[in-house]
Amino acid sequence: MSALAARSRGDGAEFEAWLDRAEQLQVFPETAHQLLAHTRDEGGANRDLEAIIGADPVLTGHLLRVANSPYYARAGGVSTLEQAIRVLGYVSARHLALSLALAQGYVRLGPRAAGVHRHARQVARIAELLDRRKGWRLGPVAHVAGLLHDIGQVILLAVEPEAWDRFRGRGPTTAEERAVFGVAHTDLGAAALARWRIAEDICLAAQYHHSPLPRQRRGFAPDAATRLLITISLADALEAPLAAGDADGVAHILERHEASAAAGLTPDAHPDLAAAVLALAEA
Ligand SMILES: [Fe+2]
Ligand SMILES: [Fe+2]
Repeated sequence: MSALAARSRGDGAEFEAWLDRAEQLQVFPETAHQLLAHTRDEGGANRDLEAIIGADPVLTGHLLRVANSPYYARAGGVSTLEQAIRVLGYVSARHLALSLALAQGYVRLGPRAAGVHRHARQVARIAELLDRRKGWRLGPVAHVAGLLHDIGQVILLAVEPEAWDRFRGRGPTTAEERAVFGVAHTDLGAAALARWRIAEDICLAAQYHHSPLPRQRRGFAPDAATRLLITISLADALEAPLAAGDADGVAHILERHEASAAAGLTPDAHPDLAAAVLALAEA
């Protein structure tokens, strides 16, 4: 167990009511529920997985994009879902498909969740960029963790939309969430992801992306869970200035944010990275 996992807050039993409510409200698409059922039924064949994913064109497109990414570079490219599942590996493909299907929860909530969705999408893109720059080889996990890191907000705003609207125009702080909803999106999101058997490193990134980073022992490289948390924390902090087209804000985060130092980003690397982040601005 990693140091981060040891810090994690148990099974999240207090969040069950929220998660049950989200399920009743069908916040997440049918494909996600089918994939969850498939995960529980280990006897399921490859063909079933292909049929579930193949019925969802958006999901199929996502999976093909990942299978064709440089991380899985393969001569000739991948053009069918069957090939994509083979390239990714059966278990990884199922996990990735489930994560991406859950992320579609943002879309299903319509305009109310548009800002949260835009933020998550951009955090996923920045996380991929940071991973490439660092050569940490987190691969698709960086993207998926970016998409899912604020999934707790999706549940809060789906279950209590009127309360969520009180924060119109901005996301509440975790302290405000605890005061209004009784739970913070970080803890709720981590509990949801754990219930859905999403990889532990992704759960930990959801839980701790607003917390101080664990202290790292000098001379030791961070473990995989910590690398992912550093990546998501920094991507999360960079998204607001990126969205505002604020180049000084991006530079400031790279200079001052503890995740930037924890990632080992030295000042000479900042200008080039800042330019690459700003290039991710959505048209
Ligand atoms: Fe967050
Ligand atoms: Fe966030």
